[in-house]
Amino acid sequence: MNGLKRTHMCGELRESNIGEKITVMGWVQRKRNLGGLVFVDLRDRTGILQIVFGEKINREAFQKSDNVKSEYCIAATGVIVKRESPNKGIPTGMVELKGEYIKIFSESETPPIYIKENLDTDENIRLKYRYLDLRRPDMQRILRLRHRTAKVIRDFMDEEGFAEIETPILGKSTPEGARDYLVPSRNYKGKFYALPQSPQLFKQLLMVSGFDRYFQIVKCFRDEDLRANRQPEFTQVDMELSFVEQEDVMALNERLLQRVFKKILNLDIKLPIERMPYRIAMEKYGSDKPDLRFGMEINDITDVVENTDFKVFQNAIEKGGSVRAIKVDGAASMSRKQIDKLVEFVKDYGAKGLVWIEYRENEVKSSASKFLSEEDMKAIFNKMKAEPGDLVLIAADKDKVVFDSLGALRVHMAKETGLLKDNNEFRFVWVTEFPLLSYNEEEKRYQAEHHPFTMPMDEDIQYLDSDPGRVRAKAYDIVLNGEELGGGSIRIHDTKLQEKMFQVIGIAQENAWDKFGYLLEAFKFGPPPHGGLAYGFDRMIMFLAKTDNIKDVIAFPKNQNAFCPLTEAPNVVDESQLKELGININRVKE
Ligand code: AMO
Repeated sequence: MNGLKRTHMCGELRESNIGEKITVMGWVQRKRNLGGLVFVDLRDRTGILQIVFGEKINREAFQKSDNVKSEYCIAATGVIVKRESPNKGIPTGMVELKGEYIKIFSESETPPIYIKENLDTDENIRLKYRYLDLRRPDMQRILRLRHRTAKVIRDFMDEEGFAEIETPILGKSTPEGARDYLVPSRNYKGKFYALPQSPQLFKQLLMVSGFDRYFQIVKCFRDEDLRANRQPEFTQVDMELSFVEQEDVMALNERLLQRVFKKILNLDIKLPIERMPYRIAMEKYGSDKPDLRFGMEINDITDVVENTDFKVFQNAIEKGGSVRAIKVDGAASMSRKQIDKLVEFVKDYGAKGLVWIEYRENEVKSSASKFLSEEDMKAIFNKMKAEPGDLVLIAADKDKVVFDSLGALRVHMAKETGLLKDNNEFRFVWVTEFPLLSYNEEEKRYQAEHHPFTMPMDEDIQYLDSDPGRVRAKAYDIVLNGEELGGGSIRIHDTKLQEKMFQVIGIAQENAWDKFGYLLEAFKFGPPPHGGLAYGFDRMIMFLAKTDNIKDVIAFPKNQNAFCPLTEAPNVVDESQLKELGININRVKE
């Protein structure tokens, strides 16, 4: 740089800087040659500054400046002056730099993507040239927001007496339930490390060690099907606390969320955050992550329709299922084509169909008009409190199918009918009282919903033998606008209860030792009562940055097929590396 020093950032220059001699450094956003003058828009991470080079200002700099092209990396020195024709569109638009000196650090080929906001280029190209994509102001803004959020969290946790402690990346599989990423061992041929799905067991060990307030902003790895809010490697804000009850963990996290939203978005979250038992969430919203920004609640209409002759309803009820419905206000005018699409939509959730009734001023239309009498439909409208112009959508099946399909349909209809426009609304809810166990039909046994160290609710422990499905857990999820932002639980620290739990879920004692032996061993040495929670940090940033694509908040994400177009990982490795690891590959044709 030959002693050249940057004195200012491009985006910070204002009228108050007029007359100052400064040096800026960055990338050429664009250059225009208007005869006797060359205008260069210079961009750094803070914004854009116009630089003007001219014969009369400095001949050598003027001539050199005409050689620069988009994305050349340069420095320029000169005096800040008032701009003759201000550009109100940018913060530095009242001033410009009179370029007396220019240094070209490096040239650039024509970039394969535009460096501008709201780019809508093919995602794989953006990811292949991610370093250029990250030059774009919106990406710069999001990654800096991510940095600031991490800092707010670290400061808060520090104030609250937490210590950030790192846990291993090369570990043994944790019982989180997704597929592991495995790393072969050279020293122990045929054996594998697993990348952590979360630091769950290590943080519990840290509780045994007496670090009674642990946290970590940590990478986790899960080999699962990717979605808009899932990445194979993602980041958790992970925490664990000793000598606490569920209420303590929740209260601390409410204050953390309040702090983050205040500091980052200047928004006030009212505390306490609403709580909703899992059962209610399912019944009213068909989901354990209910979106409470709008109503359209699910209603059970089984009792209203149980005496109708409609086979679809009768079959569902006879098989122990139910008939439930949502009412979409003012949607009775939907076209047949639109409604057919809804019927297709619910099929993805296992529903065999969807009954619809349009309630219009003078007539009622329904896909089931042959099977339901006018009285039947009136009774349904009454129960649904429908008014003329409303559309009632009904699902009849096993409860799970009914909840899944109406739950998804409810959110779909809210988007379709424009109920979700305000992107400044943040509706938090704690979902609590999750079932501790779920029944695995294939294996004919109960299994832990969360993980096998989750504490049952005190009043339900009595049912562990007689009615395991009824036992609720001291587990809680923090849900925001219909997405699971985080989750956690109080853990079992009592050996007897732990043994009971293994017995109920049918993991033989030996098997349990094989899987979690080191934790069980540690629990022989005075484990404290403890519990914790982990947020999806990327998801938190998605909300704060108001994007619905997780890749926007990660510097170098994988694409939807868990592939990195930039580095081309995963990829083949040298034969010699495989040999060292004792691995033979049977090449399978794809
Ligand atoms: P859980 O499995 O619920 O809990 O994970 C915590 C949070 O991590 C986020 N998350 C993800 N984010 C992006 N991509 C993914 N593939 C992904 N998977 C999960 C979610 C989720 O709420 N050890 C427990 C926590 C505890 O009990 O303390 C755990 O990992 O936002």
